[in-house]
Amino acid sequence: MIRNTLFIVGVLLVGILGCRNIKPADQNIIVYTPGSTGLPNNFLFPTTSPDRIILNLTNDPTHSVAVNWRTDTSVVESIVQVAEATHGPEFIDQTRDIPGKREMLIYKPENDPEVSATYHSAIIDQLEPGKKYVYRVGSESGWSEWFQIQMPEPDKKISFVYFGDAQNSVKSMWSRVIRQAYGSKPEVDFMLHAGDLINRFDRDVEWGEWFYAGSFIHAMVPAVMTPGNHEYKNMVFSPQWKKQFNLPANGPKGLEEQCYQVNYPNFKVVSLDAEQIDESEEYKIAQRDWLDSILTHDPRKWTAITFHYPIFSTKPNRDNVEFREMFKPIFDKHKVDIILQGHDHAYGRGMVNNVPTGYQVKDKSSGTMYVVSVSGPKMYDHSHDPWMDRKAGNTQLYQIISIEGNTLSYGAYTATGELYDAFDLIKSDNGDPNQLVNKIPDFPERHKTD
Ligand SMILES: [Fe+2]
Ligand SMILES: [Fe+2]
Repeated sequence: MIRNTLFIVGVLLVGILGCRNIKPADQNIIVYTPGSTGLPNNFLFPTTSPDRIILNLTNDPTHSVAVNWRTDTSVVESIVQVAEATHGPEFIDQTRDIPGKREMLIYKPENDPEVSATYHSAIIDQLEPGKKYVYRVGSESGWSEWFQIQMPEPDKKISFVYFGDAQNSVKSMWSRVIRQAYGSKPEVDFMLHAGDLINRFDRDVEWGEWFYAGSFIHAMVPAVMTPGNHEYKNMVFSPQWKKQFNLPANGPKGLEEQCYQVNYPNFKVVSLDAEQIDESEEYKIAQRDWLDSILTHDPRKWTAITFHYPIFSTKPNRDNVEFREMFKPIFDKHKVDIILQGHDHAYGRGMVNNVPTGYQVKDKSSGTMYVVSVSGPKMYDHSHDPWMDRKAGNTQLYQIISIEGNTLSYGAYTATGELYDAFDLIKSDNGDPNQLVNKIPDFPERHKTD
């Protein structure tokens, strides 16, 4: 009886609290039920204080970093303050102001409330490799806390985290993966997201979950991200993407911040927009020609390319033939080192060649490592095709990749931080394909039915 009464009271309370209308700052009445997302209200509706603060890599990541933040539309000033980090608070007297740019977005996704926001962005430049800086963003209407950033020392080592699709239950179930990755390797130089960051391209509340999951990590470790098919719907691109990120605009015209390159002195990172390759003949050819041109006579020792649709799939009966036939010859011609993909919601990696008798043939002479991975909780079955040296189903993973001298070291870790897969690529000095050294740990292979 007591238990029944408590249950009824609980239901009434949830009903009363859950149906409150929230009136966010600087907006008219919007009916929104915060309990439907589990997000604090200010993760959907901006205020005068900066939120969704994120760093992105620039084309020259050893000397600059891009920063973005969001406020409500009453804020008409954008400032970044930066200083070299000091042991105590004295940096506060040595700050430099950098003015930012502003873009407004007033958008109402289907079945969701309208959100009005001002997105701010700036490039923090004149930074020196290896030094530690502090910065904050905002204006007299409200400032962020001071964030500390470590500039890379590319002569020593560059390391980064690679995530496959986050996409679903991002606050609830992806958050532990990015936090585990950061907790175990906070010193990485950047984080790379291989598309499908969220599930529905335009839902502000899903972007809110993505920012919540990474919280201050996004403001301390720069990110690069490539669009997945879930950043599109019927070829309409996410309205938030270019507002909330500040990615390089150095790719083919019309694909700014979608297809681009980042250049460390000895390492090039490239993002291709796979959806535009799949759907647009014009942008497919533009991206192929652009990729071929930037890899021609490139002096850098190492190259990683990320795009969303795998050209060697882990999913049974899935095969992106056209993509592979157009782009693999470019990867082969320029001996690209590693390809980082998503979309298949499983894990697989191997060196593989496209031979007439069947493309799914191991071929270490190609020298290019192809990887598919997933970081979120949505899982698909995977095939048992022979090209994969290592595969997994039903496993959330993140990968830590380090480049130092002639060695690329790779480790794939499960959501709990345990090593699931590892290898080294050793570069020869005479132009031969990379040598693969498998270092697969003693960890049983996992399948979806496990
Ligand atoms: Fe996808
Ligand atoms: Fe996906």
